[in-house]
Amino acid sequence: MAMSSDKVKSLLHEVESFKIETKEQLENFRLQFLSKKGSIQELFGRIKDIEPAMRKEYGAVVNDLKNKAEEKFIALKEKFEYTPAESTGIDYSLPGEPMQSGAMHPISIARNRIIEIFSAIGFVVSDGPEIEDDWHNFSALNFPEEHPARDMQDTFFVSPTDEGDTKGPMALRTHTSSVQVRIMENNQPPIRTISPGRVYRNEAISARAHCFFHQVEGLYIDTDVSFADLKQTLLYFAKEMFSSDTKIRLRPSYFPFTEPSAEMDISCSICKGKGCNVCKYTGWVEILGCGMVDPAVLDNCKIDSKKYSGYAFGMGIERIAMLNHGINDLRLFSENDLRFLRQFGGV
Ligand code: PHE
Repeated sequence: MAMSSDKVKSLLHEVESFKIETKEQLENFRLQFLSKKGSIQELFGRIKDIEPAMRKEYGAVVNDLKNKAEEKFIALKEKFEYTPAESTGIDYSLPGEPMQSGAMHPISIARNRIIEIFSAIGFVVSDGPEIEDDWHNFSALNFPEEHPARDMQDTFFVSPTDEGDTKGPMALRTHTSSVQVRIMENNQPPIRTISPGRVYRNEAISARAHCFFHQVEGLYIDTDVSFADLKQTLLYFAKEMFSSDTKIRLRPSYFPFTEPSAEMDISCSICKGKGCNVCKYTGWVEILGCGMVDPAVLDNCKIDSKKYSGYAFGMGIERIAMLNHGINDLRLFSENDLRFLRQFGGV
């Protein structure tokens, strides 16, 4: 004990006489006396070597020393705007930044739902290139060369490359029917597939038209496929996509690759057929084109048109998303305005 109290006294002297005139000296003082490895802590550690009867007294003396050292330290701390060297400078008591979680894009929501509905009745998803050759986008689909039918879909042509085995001039695909040509060329019936994807048309951008948009096209080829199969499949789709009381209406139309061809309207999902500005007070909204695959298209793709028949349909995903969410301007889908996107889930 005698040795220890000498040590305490000499440390007390050291504490009192330690000269602190700079921030660095203050830090040295802290390290020497007050840190976990400092000399005062060391004295506390020695308590176990003290006779039990003397421990209380010893503890009090060391505590007193510690208080004196702390007082001296605190008194000078503010003066030197002190921060300990090991401080990270981070204030852990500040409230955290909120985490922003993303939201699904309304086009992805509609596309996923369409895929889900057709997957349930056996359609598989197929994919193809967005830069397409003339054969797959037009010629195989019965668009004769130089025929005005090609003007139905204003096309972005791209410079030809020497790479790969392409057939005819290259363009950004104007519809995903091009994927269906590729599927037919490489598979024999039965074929039951849908091809979702982005398509491009050279149109002025407005609330109702855009130079790119998204489609899902469907194709079903087997023996004895009839127009009744097409109609029933589309009725099933409309009821699943909108509501079970949705009605459909098929109007005769023209596409080079289907015969007969039709456009399908659904009873307006917004006003339930009463009339509103979405259905232009007709009670009906057009959502897709369809028809029986023209035998010439089957033959172009090496499928025997005497043995097989099939139907095809194609719809714009934006159109479906607009009806689902009451969106009235196509441009909103590609402007990436967070105020718009946040409405579909997430923060
Ligand atoms: N490919 C057509 C379009 O983009 C849609 C369609 C597909 C029509 C299949 C009939 C059959 O407009």
